[in-house]
Amino acid sequence: MDFDLVVIGAGPGGYTAAIRAAQLGMTTAIVEKGKTLGGTCLNVGCIPSKALLSSTELFYEAQKQFAVHGISAEGLSMDVAKMMKRKDGVVRRMARGVDFLMDKNGIERMTGTGRIAGPDEVEVTGDAGRQRLKAKRILIATGSRVAGLPFLEFDGETVLSSDDAVALGQAPESMAVIGGGAIGLELGSVWARLGTAVTVVEFLPRIAATFDDDITQALQKLLQRQGLKFHLGSGVESAERTEGGVKLTAAKGDEKLVLEAEKVLVAVGRKPNTEGLGAAEAGVELDERGCIKTGAEWQTSVPGIYAIGDVVAGPMLAHKAEQEAIAAVERMAGKPSSVNYDVIPSVIYTAPELAAAGLTEAEAKANGNEIAVGTFPFQANGRAVAGGHADGLAKVIADKAAGRVLGAQILSANASELIAEAVLLMELGGNAEDLARTIHAHPTMSEGLREAAHAAIGEPLHT
Ligand code: NAI
Repeated sequence: MDFDLVVIGAGPGGYTAAIRAAQLGMTTAIVEKGKTLGGTCLNVGCIPSKALLSSTELFYEAQKQFAVHGISAEGLSMDVAKMMKRKDGVVRRMARGVDFLMDKNGIERMTGTGRIAGPDEVEVTGDAGRQRLKAKRILIATGSRVAGLPFLEFDGETVLSSDDAVALGQAPESMAVIGGGAIGLELGSVWARLGTAVTVVEFLPRIAATFDDDITQALQKLLQRQGLKFHLGSGVESAERTEGGVKLTAAKGDEKLVLEAEKVLVAVGRKPNTEGLGAAEAGVELDERGCIKTGAEWQTSVPGIYAIGDVVAGPMLAHKAEQEAIAAVERMAGKPSSVNYDVIPSVIYTAPELAAAGLTEAEAKANGNEIAVGTFPFQANGRAVAGGHADGLAKVIADKAAGRVLGAQILSANASELIAEAVLLMELGGNAEDLARTIHAHPTMSEGLREAAHAAIGEPLHT
């Protein structure tokens, strides 16, 4: 079979590339070894974790916050099996949506493991045997997989990866979480809300280290209030199995920290999927971290072979992969297209949520910018207080002389949605004053970001 484009991997990067290619008139095939399309994000990552976060947040709110609204919710209980069934239903529904989009756009779907057999050939090995696809261009979108620790092998029972932690049959008594990044904090929150004693052990002196310190400290306090415990500056160095679970030993400065738990979630990052792909054999170069090296237009070192998403350098985020997919395919079709790597939002879906885009205050300072920073606490926002979601703050970082917004960070309910305004503003090169003078509906939480912009231009209103 002959195609203009063969995409390997059907996660958000791969399936978006296939759709855009088909729309632009390319005959397109997509190769996926999993039973369902959607990749990590849809099957075991973003979507199932958001389903569980939503269920457990409702449960937690019913227990802790309903009473202040005058609602009595006695005898509450959580049926974990039912919650998981709902999550599986959400995943199935979204996966059906991707199937529909493949069919609608006339994309040939190949089930099996794709291997690059040459610069214009992909071999697919699956239940249907072995097939060879001829391709004018090949796009690698094979994503990433969980990284483990050498002394702590995943077993899906006691030593869990994020794939396992979204599918537990019941809430364990205790869980140690190694890594205070997005996965550790989100899945730690899920199980803590269901009564598991969750302890996060983080190597760095703070959690969520890609965000600003003041914001992560505020988040840590709020998570502690929800029952999570933290050991920071603690690198887990060894582990042993015990009858009841696992015993971890971490180096905390000069001291040793010993921690026992029924389960351990290892959330120490992800690594690119290049094994068995035939990429290296075809001459595709990797960087020192094992990511596929790409140049202009997402071309690899082999003409005709492209790569995008988690398998190339940059943040391992679905929306970054999607935008790279669109831009790479549009460039193949001769259209002008690009990715603005300076403004990629990132979100941690705790309660409250933590969202950021652009530079942090620390990065802006390190770049030598003279900056103006404005913050606004949601305690002073009418909608946040009325809704019972007054924890958190918004922060705007602007260039002092030009006023241009360089970054924004938001810790609040729905921060994942609120950050979009800052992203658009930065995409358009807007100023803090533009944001401050833009009329926002009242009362809304979006006013919090506007107030932070007011503070950044030295004209704070409601603080
Ligand atoms: P991460 O890189 O965000 O965090 C891992 C943390 O583990 C780091 O803070 C690191 O210092 C710590 N660590 C490493 N080794 C350690 C050790 N031996 N002892 C103690 N701490 C140790 O990785 P994470 O959370 O696993 O996420 C993986 C990827 O998936 C990231 O790129 C993340 O952005 C992405 N992701 C994004 C989500 C989102 O956008 N909401 C949700 C989940 C994952």
